[in-house]
Amino acid sequence: MKWIQSAPSNIAIIKYMGKRDHERNIPINKSISWTLNHLRSFVELELTNGDTRWEPLNSSYPFELSEKGWEKFSRHILEIKKIFNIKENFIIRSANNFPSDCGIASSASSFAALTKVCVEAFSEISKGNKMSIHEQAMLSAKGSGSSCRSFHDGLVAWTENGIEVKKINDFNFYHQVVITSGAKKEVSSSEAHKRVNSSLLINGRIERAEKRYVDLISSLESKNWQSVFNISWAEFWDMHALFETSCPPFGYMSSQSLEILDLIKNYWKKNSFGPVTTMDAGPNVHLLWPIEYKNHAIEFKNFNTQLKFISEDLF
Ligand code: PMV
Repeated sequence: MKWIQSAPSNIAIIKYMGKRDHERNIPINKSISWTLNHLRSFVELELTNGDTRWEPLNSSYPFELSEKGWEKFSRHILEIKKIFNIKENFIIRSANNFPSDCGIASSASSFAALTKVCVEAFSEISKGNKMSIHEQAMLSAKGSGSSCRSFHDGLVAWTENGIEVKKINDFNFYHQVVITSGAKKEVSSSEAHKRVNSSLLINGRIERAEKRYVDLISSLESKNWQSVFNISWAEFWDMHALFETSCPPFGYMSSQSLEILDLIKNYWKKNSFGPVTTMDAGPNVHLLWPIEYKNHAIEFKNFNTQLKFISEDLF
């Protein structure tokens, strides 16, 4: 018997960085992200009489799960098996619909897809009750915190009350990511969550993130894109400053990231509008264009032929 599920990635505008509880992935502050429906992970489960193991799923993009990745995956599967009292073994196959060597974080989409497929398969096998989407998201957060925001479309908040979709009328983003490097991360996000506690800038971090969270919602509601840009810009720099001021310091920003950020700043200066810009724990630059500026986004990509883009249109 086989089961397959897929889930999207997401990009945070207010970042989840730093945990109150590292075992259970309890964040120190609220976060909010935009769901990237076009960038997806697929996970398949098949019952086997052999040992539980991982294989790549057939896909146009080759994908290899690292040893650490498999450790995290199998720990999460065990956790869900316990809930449903499952004894069977499975072949787990997974893939992404985007190149995995381009440095776009796939942990959110892959943990969300893994949680969904395990819940579907295990509740069928155990003839147990299905879990609600909210319960699944909270379960997924135990494997990868940011994955809980991948259970809904649009703007998704992760707060002390769990997951919440922020409904803001007549509003949409067109997403592009400028790829600067496919290099593997030297410091994993789990390690980053721990190490930021050693930065002096961690003082006041919760207050800064919480203020930006409130300001972001009201700026989105009033479609004040300049203000949304300012908040998003300050927020990713705040996270990257935490990284660089940790002991020992670490970072993901490359000289090419800085060049792209400069290009975006100049674009805003020249046009008085532009993309909401953010960076994850990586060197790539994410651009969220208010949908009314989609033509400008395409123009921007066509103009900057020296840059490598992954745009929503490609999917
Ligand atoms: O989900 P994790 O534990 O891999 O944390 C990653 C958190 C960031 O991607 C760096 C920020 C965020 O809120 O998505």
